Amino acid sequence: MVKVHFLLEDLLVEAPEGTSLQRIADAAGADITFGCRTGSCGTCRVHITQGLQHCGEPNAEERDFLKGLDAPPDQRLACQVIVHGDVAIEYLGL
Ligand code: FES
Repeated sequence: MVKVHFLLEDLLVEAPEGTSLQRIADAAGADITFGCRTGSCGTCRVHITQGLQHCGEPNAEERDFLKGLDAPPDQRLACQVIVHGDVAIEYLGL
C-alpha cells in the first residue's frame, strides 16, 4: 500500500501500489477537479510536493501538455499519474 497526502484538505489515504492518482482522489473525495480524464484539458494539474520519484513517467500527451504550460517537472496531471510509492500533492488546476 502507498500513502497519498492531499495537502490542501489535509487528507491522508492509502491505496494499492500502481493505482492511478485519479482513482485515489475520486475514492477519497479529494478536492481535485477532473475534466477530460485523458490528459488534454489540464484541470487536474497538481504539484507533487513529495515523492515525485514514486510517480510513473508521464506519457507523451501529458508531457506535451505540461510543456505547453511551461510547467516544472514536479507538476503533473493527476488523471495520468500512476502512484508507486508515498506522495504528497497540492491541487493547482489550470
Ligand atoms: S482531467 Fe483533463 S488533463 Fe486531467
